[in-house]
Amino acid sequence: MILEIKNLSVRYKGKDAYVDALKNINVSVKKGEILGIVGESGSGKSTLAFSLLNLLPEDSLKEGKIIFKGKNIPALKEKELQKLRGSEIGMVFQEPAATLNPVLSIGYQFAELLRCKRGLTNTQEIKDTMLKALSGVHLTDCQRLINSYPHQLSGGQLQRICLGFAVALSPAILIADEPTSSLDVTIESQIIDLIRQLRRTLGLTMIFITHNLDLVKTLCDRALVLYKGEVKEIEPVAQLFAFPKDSYTKSLLAAFKELEE
Ligand SMILES: Nc1ncnc2c1ncn2[C@@H]1O[C@H](COP(=O)(O)OP(=O)(O)O)[C@@H](O)[C@H]1O
Ligand SMILES: [Mg+2]
Repeated sequence: MILEIKNLSVRYKGKDAYVDALKNINVSVKKGEILGIVGESGSGKSTLAFSLLNLLPEDSLKEGKIIFKGKNIPALKEKELQKLRGSEIGMVFQEPAATLNPVLSIGYQFAELLRCKRGLTNTQEIKDTMLKALSGVHLTDCQRLINSYPHQLSGGQLQRICLGFAVALSPAILIADEPTSSLDVTIESQIIDLIRQLRRTLGLTMIFITHNLDLVKTLCDRALVLYKGEVKEIEPVAQLFAFPKDSYTKSLLAAFKELEE
């Protein structure tokens, strides 16, 4: 097991009371697998992702353990967490444009990342690493991309760049929170193909968060169904689609089948 989540509960501070976002979550991630987290909007998917990097608001209440390489993430000091983020636990977000800084070129941001997170200092080595990473996510004309600013590129290009940044740090696990939800369907399927290929070539271990059952079916090995902060079911994907046990999962699948027909 690469990551073990044990009895994780998260409550956000609301106006008058605390809001339950996650209730007693238990799940482990195996090396080399893609674990899908699927649920409707507001079910707690992003809260789960942010918990894994300890990026929840200060005033939220957290309980439980997240064991990664023998360490309990919620108990780590900020300095240790900074070392983990990106380098050990990578993350790709829904909006690539919001992940990247609009006033800095792609190359500047990438180089900074490689200096801070991989300790690279040699300019030529940094440049070679950037070009290799960008062509590795099937971008072309990479030198031009390095000199570009985020607004000059398409959403699909930016999400490839974010994936390139993430895998260039060789994280032990990559969390992708709805990485294709802001993209057109055709671009989405290209990015999913890319993720599938990266998984094959790099042996990525991933947590793939989505509200889209189709992506779970085509990409993930196992899936966790989340509803109102609770785990409804965790099963291998083939099992989940063929023999759903939970009533919520069943209704979700029924709606999905109607869409498919
Ligand atoms: N920073 C926050 N403060 C208060 N409530 C929040 C905060 N972030 C999320 N929530 C609430 O927690 C629940 C889960 O949200 P979230 O994890 O973003 O769900 P999802 O990613 O599945 O859409 C929702 O009810 C949401 O409104
Ligand atoms: Mg979300």
